[in-house]
Amino acid sequence: MRNVAVFGARNRPVARALSVSGSVLIDGIRFRCGVVRTPDVAFDPAAAANRFRVLVRVRAASCNYRDRGLIAALRHADAGRFFTVGSEFVAEVAAVGEGVTTLRPGDRVVANYHYEGLPELPGGVRAGVPTNQATKEWQSFHERQLRRVPASMPDEVAAAFALNAQTAYGMVRRLEVRPGANALVTSAASNTSLAILNALRGRGVDVYAATSSEQAVPRLLALGARDVVVVGRGRAGFADDRALGEVLRAAGGADYVLDPFFDLHIARALELLNPFGKYVTCGLAAQTHHAARAAGVDAPEPLGAIAVQLIMKNLTVLGNCVGLTEDLDRALRDYDAGRLDPVVDSVFAGDDVGAFLDRTFNDPARLGKVVYRYD
Ligand SMILES: NC(=O)c1ccc[n+]([C@@H]2O[C@H](COP(=O)([O-])OP(=O)(O)OC[C@H]3O[C@@H](n4cnc5c(N)ncnc54)[C@H](OP(=O)(O)O)[C@@H]3O)[C@@H](O)[C@H]2O)c1
Repeated sequence: MRNVAVFGARNRPVARALSVSGSVLIDGIRFRCGVVRTPDVAFDPAAAANRFRVLVRVRAASCNYRDRGLIAALRHADAGRFFTVGSEFVAEVAAVGEGVTTLRPGDRVVANYHYEGLPELPGGVRAGVPTNQATKEWQSFHERQLRRVPASMPDEVAAAFALNAQTAYGMVRRLEVRPGANALVTSAASNTSLAILNALRGRGVDVYAATSSEQAVPRLLALGARDVVVVGRGRAGFADDRALGEVLRAAGGADYVLDPFFDLHIARALELLNPFGKYVTCGLAAQTHHAARAAGVDAPEPLGAIAVQLIMKNLTVLGNCVGLTEDLDRALRDYDAGRLDPVVDSVFAGDDVGAFLDRTFNDPARLGKVVYRYD
């Protein structure tokens, strides 16, 4: 079976070139990458251990911000070793265990990232991200870790949909948004925020988007933003931007802030919130030392100033990690009903692994998810 693989960066590369077809620069280190073939997975549907398991063949997959840190860790691995990358996929069910009732061979499925705050679901099933190696062509999962996708959703969309949609729907659910309210979405051109804009459609909320990507403005407006403010890149660029404050003040202030990078935005975002406003975040830019330096967030925010805003304005701060099965199901239903417009930037295949990873992690022109497809 095939794997989209990134090789370790330590020591000299082994003499036989191990399927290397390209390279990608992550956190200042150049990693070699390529498609590696490994033995197929053996799966006995009658085995007791596979009673609730499902064997799938991955058709297409994608990476997320979190995968950058997993690749960066390969700086400590020898050049002859590799890691199979990816945290999202669309796959076809090939076989099911005897106790599986929700899926059957031929179904197309995506990962279900259902997460309630603990690493395991009852029954010992891993919660949250089912695999950090989504490009492994054959793998098996518990049936609860998979959801069927509608026939209306092409592979390229499905391979890049579930993680951000489930997170965005989880964030919107946690805020209990009310029609007529104002929401500010930060880093609006990030994949998470593009999914948030989709999740906020049809909820009667006026959405204001802040982005450092000028070229994304037309797409953000098309996704339902009432106004888009182009801010300076990084924490200081966001904090110093007067136009954002003016736009929000003219609109009556923000009732909600949805923020994928708390370490870039939280201090200023709280200033922009109305009394009793709610702020929700799902992540941070500083997932590695290098990323922290690159984003200019290696110094912590002043906690005192943040606490004063929280207390004096009776604000609520929510942390959110992905969502529940019902969030993903609602997103899949909304897609099938034509209510969502997921943003796919580009699709790669074959030996274009370096280009796939470079576009995913490094290209400032990227807007939306980057997909790798097996032919
Ligand atoms: N916990 C969870 O369940 C969960 C799920 C999904 C995502 N997340 C987290 O959400 C965050 C976003 O992930 P993603 O995959 O959506 O990221 P992404 O698509 O790679 O984000 C890229 C965008 O982030 C903004 N950005 C990045 N670095 C910046 C910097 N130094 N200064 C200013 N803006 C910067 C820019 O937005 P603009 O161009 O608009 O300025 C950029 O276009 C990550 O922390 C990720 O781990 C968490």
